[in-house]
Amino acid sequence: MSFRYELYHYIVKHVLGSNCPIANDMTLNRVLDVGTGTGLWALDMAREFPASKIYGCDVAPVIDNSQTRPNIYWGNADLLRGLPYSDNSFDLVHQRQLCVYIGERQWPLVARELYRLCRPGGKLCLIELLPTVTVASDIVSWHDCELSGRVAAVRCINDLIQQTLHKSGVRPEAVACLGDLLSITGFANVRHDTVELPRGDWAGQLGRCMLSYTHKLLIATVPAVAASTDTPRQEYEDMIEHAMPVLALGRASHRLHVFTAEKPLQ
Ligand SMILES: C[S@@+](CC[C@H](N)C(=O)[O-])C[C@H]1O[C@@H](n2cnc3c(N)ncnc32)[C@H](O)[C@@H]1O
Repeated sequence: MSFRYELYHYIVKHVLGSNCPIANDMTLNRVLDVGTGTGLWALDMAREFPASKIYGCDVAPVIDNSQTRPNIYWGNADLLRGLPYSDNSFDLVHQRQLCVYIGERQWPLVARELYRLCRPGGKLCLIELLPTVTVASDIVSWHDCELSGRVAAVRCINDLIQQTLHKSGVRPEAVACLGDLLSITGFANVRHDTVELPRGDWAGQLGRCMLSYTHKLLIATVPAVAASTDTPRQEYEDMIEHAMPVLALGRASHRLHVFTAEKPLQ
């Protein structure tokens, strides 16, 4: 798990040019990373901003406690039950890659909790990559029998992932509407930017890292898909291996969603 998280962390940092596109314009006394996972982002921020207090919080005991820094504060709590921090206590609240954990109906509660935690004038940064994969649009017109079998495998994988998530009320595609939700919650200056993460040899080292990340991401879906659909584990794993070559073709990419917003002073 940790290498997948590590790859994702460095890919996102590379394409955004920093850990957080808005952090450099602000005074950062206290920063919160919600759903910190292995804590890589928090650790990186703690290194970059040694005078700031960086809080990393996760519901699961996944934080790599062997690595820490004097200005890091790890916490273990559930965002959906409210995090154990005071109102208005963070200059920056960052949350990355929780879209497969938050049910469609839970997003308003999450937005309110993130709002509560931000200080007036403080900022929010939400980053999400959808778990489904698409083939490059420039290969869809190639009429090749072997290829169309592999494209069909990609569609089937996406269907199975979506079925699995929908069963637990999770609709990652709802991420596209988060900007509106943040505005309704009270955030100002809401921005929704999308950044393409290129996948495959055409994009050099970055594209190869993204291809490797995609494979790891799909493999990580195996237990949940096998448990919640009628698909036998081995069959789904074979489907992933069958699909991989087509995911490497053409000018493929994944779309990263980046939301930034500010809590008004009044
Ligand atoms: C895909 S990982 C992303 C980790 C990290 N943010 C990153 O970008 O590398 C999602 C993390 O969110 C955590 N998580 C899921 N639901 C949560 C909740 N309700 N409260 C706090 N953390 C949660 C999971 O335990 C997991 O570590």
